[in-house]
Amino acid sequence: WDTFVEDIRAIEALKRERNAVILAHNYQTPEIFHCVADIRGDSLALAREAQETDADVIVMAGVHFMAETAKMLNPASTVLIPDMQAGCSLADSITGRDVRLLRERHPGVPVVSYVNTSAEVKAESDMCCTSGNAKRVVESLGTDRVIMIPDEYLARNIEAETGIKMITWAGHCEVHERFTPDEIARMRADNPGLVVIAHPECPPEVVAASDFSGSTAMMDDFVRERSGSRILLVTECSMSDNLAIKYPQTSFVRPCNMCPHMKRITLANIRHALETMTHEVTLDPELSSRGRRAVERMLAV
Ligand code: 13P
Ligand code: SF4
Repeated sequence: WDTFVEDIRAIEALKRERNAVILAHNYQTPEIFHCVADIRGDSLALAREAQETDADVIVMAGVHFMAETAKMLNPASTVLIPDMQAGCSLADSITGRDVRLLRERHPGVPVVSYVNTSAEVKAESDMCCTSGNAKRVVESLGTDRVIMIPDEYLARNIEAETGIKMITWAGHCEVHERFTPDEIARMRADNPGLVVIAHPECPPEVVAASDFSGSTAMMDDFVRERSGSRILLVTECSMSDNLAIKYPQTSFVRPCNMCPHMKRITLANIRHALETMTHEVTLDPELSSRGRRAVERMLAV
């Protein structure tokens, strides 16, 4: 506990000294999320805030693609990530070359890439999306087919919602692919009246077994409206921990599928990042401006 308090005090002092802000994703552990973060949210909110901030330094308490997106949208700032190995199974599943091959195979079909991709993949895409705006983004294109990469399940879930045919890629989130409808049925049997909320990175049969599906920010909104309920969040463990602190009158059933990448970020390495100004995320300017176009088109929807 003493080490936590010492780290928190040191981080607060370093933020003032460096004119730095800490952006924390909803899957960060409570001591990061509630004690040192200046901005908290889903991938969409973090991208918007990264673009808006006038801080000199952005520390991304999240994974590498989020830091790259922040750098794309705010090239003048210094973007730090406390651990360069904080990756994502979706971002690792596809390369820029794969996107070029998909385009050759499906000429004229627009490419929508999830923000959970590298800068190189964003640079090959027409538009990005997050789980918070995927439906609006694909509908804004006005086409009957979309190449939606790399999350196969997100694409299938959006296809079911919109009726637009998705050409998919076999990328999966290593956390959300592990949930099953049987697990949800067991939890419902053990907890009468349970409200089940699934992230759209879950397989379609898991989303179908749930009462609501949405991004982590949409989950927060949904829980706020159902204050006092018993809730199962079919997503990464820290989401329930953070919302349980925010909404103490609501009870959460907590199966725990942890994202090992998100969990690489700690108070200790955030402090180290600010002390040493490492690890800086840099991007090739040409790649960055092509990727930014796709992200900005998304933000304009
Ligand atoms: P959100 O945009 O819903 O926060 O999702 C990001 C993510 O990595 C989910 O696994
Ligand atoms: Fe990637 Fe899944 Fe971790 Fe999100 S939870 S960062 S999609 S591996």
